[in-house]
Amino acid sequence: MKQLSLRLGLAVLALGMISLCTTSAVAQDAAATYKSKCAMCHGADGKGGKMGTRDFASAEVKAESDAQLAEVITKGKGKMPSYDGKLKEGEIKDLVAYIRGLAK
Ligand code: HEC
Repeated sequence: MKQLSLRLGLAVLALGMISLCTTSAVAQDAAATYKSKCAMCHGADGKGGKMGTRDFASAEVKAESDAQLAEVITKGKGKMPSYDGKLKEGEIKDLVAYIRGLAK
């Protein structure tokens, strides 16, 4: 009996740790996606330079709404590829938030 309650205790502890991890997973996902899919054109810090990308911290990008940025990511624009069907709506939203964070 003692062993069983010890195991239950461990299971509860493990579940708690899993739920803790998933809370920060969203931000980590966006960072990982950005690194693997976007950084080669936009730069790890979002300053761009290559491929004629604009600095995410520039006045032009700051003047655009989150919805406009999400639309460029979804539909593409010029050399910017479309991620429609490749990234989920939620993932694109997280990327916009991540880009805003880079621009600070
Ligand atoms: C092949 C290179 C390339 C890749 C990969 C790429 N982009 Fe772009 N992106 C561009 C270019 C070039 C533009 C400018 C388009 C224009 O204005 O003609 C752009 C524009 C944008 C814009 C609009 C801001 C602006 O400059 O007006 C956002 C937001 C953006 N990209 C986000 C992303 C995200 C997020 C990813 C990864 C999922 C990504 N891009 C991947 C090349 C790229």
